Amino acid sequence: MITARTRLAAVIGDPVRHSLSPAIHRAGFESTGADWTMVAFEVAAGDARRAVEAMRTLGIGGLSVTMPHKADVAAAVEEVDDAAAALASVNTVVLRDDGTTFGASTDGQGFVDSVIASGVELTHSTAVVLGAGAAARSIIDALGRAGVADVAIVNRTTERARSAAELSDVARVGGLDDVGAATLLVNTTSVGMGTDEVPIDPRLLRAGIVVADIVYHPLDTALLRAARTAGADTIDGLGMLVHQAVLQQELWTGHRPDPAAMRAAAEAELAARA
Ligand code: ATR
Repeated sequence: MITARTRLAAVIGDPVRHSLSPAIHRAGFESTGADWTMVAFEVAAGDARRAVEAMRTLGIGGLSVTMPHKADVAAAVEEVDDAAAALASVNTVVLRDDGTTFGASTDGQGFVDSVIASGVELTHSTAVVLGAGAAARSIIDALGRAGVADVAIVNRTTERARSAAELSDVARVGGLDDVGAATLLVNTTSVGMGTDEVPIDPRLLRAGIVVADIVYHPLDTALLRAARTAGADTIDGLGMLVHQAVLQQELWTGHRPDPAAMRAAAEAELAARA
């Protein structure tokens, strides 16, 4: 029940009406009994700083930040965590009791947590990251922090791979021949989003590699299906989405919500749309 004491978190973005965040976060708040709720605010490009100011004015306790605001918010908050500083990107804002704002980037660590939750040992492992966009950069940064020994970046545009490789000492520009020895393969490209395309030749997939896709529309991508056929273990795109939200909510409320409840809410929301 919403009362006069209920705290508000909001997702800001444009577009934002398709966001799964309110459904995921509300399930999380319910799982801990935190008296919080979440709504979505459509905030136009260029207005992110004003949204952060509105947090202070209205006492909005937390923001989840999505396209196109992550870089602007990183510049608008008073303090950031290490990942946000490295990426110049913030996906989470906390309004602290003293009225100051703290920005974090939970996407990459959320991905790492989803991999660990699937039982994969990342320390000293090797990874291949397909793609070098913003999502890839957060994942590469977090894989490096998680103790992965080698992160090979494979991207259509080599220059972007080179830039992403600068994020971590263990990252480098790689090639598809790196897939053979990898513990983990993650697709961060948009290939397979709403289509049946696969980002790499499925013949490279094999038992013993864990294949993760951050695409969640469809949830069971052609890449994940091909991976299962090849005998590989898979992690779908809700893994990262849910686990980055778990970290956001811990930052806002101090309580760790139940990832299973949040995932179930995301699945129900996706099913309701289908
Ligand atoms: P995001 O913020 O989701 O990471 P992005 O920054 O636009 O999105 O990055 C999209 C990624 O998907 C990039 O790595 C892009 O490759 P380029 O850097 O060469 O543009 C990759 N990508 C998109 N469409 C692709 C396609 N058809 N084939 C291969 N890679 C593709």
